[in-house]
Amino acid sequence: MEQKTLLIIKPDGVRRGLVGEVLRRIEAKGLRIVKLKMLRLRRECAERLYDIHKGKEFFEDLVSFMTSGPIVAAIVEGDNAVNVVRTLIGPTDGRKAPPGTIRGDYALSIKENIVHAADSAERAEYEISVVFSVDCSIED
Ligand code: CMP
Repeated sequence: MEQKTLLIIKPDGVRRGLVGEVLRRIEAKGLRIVKLKMLRLRRECAERLYDIHKGKEFFEDLVSFMTSGPIVAAIVEGDNAVNVVRTLIGPTDGRKAPPGTIRGDYALSIKENIVHAADSAERAEYEISVVFSVDCSIED
């Protein structure tokens, strides 16, 4: 089933020079990058992106982290793209993510885990509308 999803390379991934490596893995898998943007996310937009985590003890820390530097947002398309991208990135906690996954190979933290990907087609639509809205990008 053809699907569309959202992938974000987080500020730690950009700082560590992993943009090319992450996008390479997406393309090597056979998925298509159909839209790509580097931006600094406004605080309100980081809060909207992570609305499902509001109230959790790590929420403020997460929002600060996500606004600490530029991110790269990609719309990725392909067969079963939502689950395929989730499998490529691996579980949230980099310490537990298996080798071969992006987080397993590059992250040693639960917070600074290089990438984010939508967990359903519905969330992908919502998150794309947040991250690609012109109002969410801080101008340099
Ligand atoms: P992500 O897949 O983008 O979804 C929510 C994010 O919150 C997660 O990756 C991490 O960056 C962060 N996160 C999840 N759990 C914790 C935690 N216990 N402490 C700090 N950050 C967390």
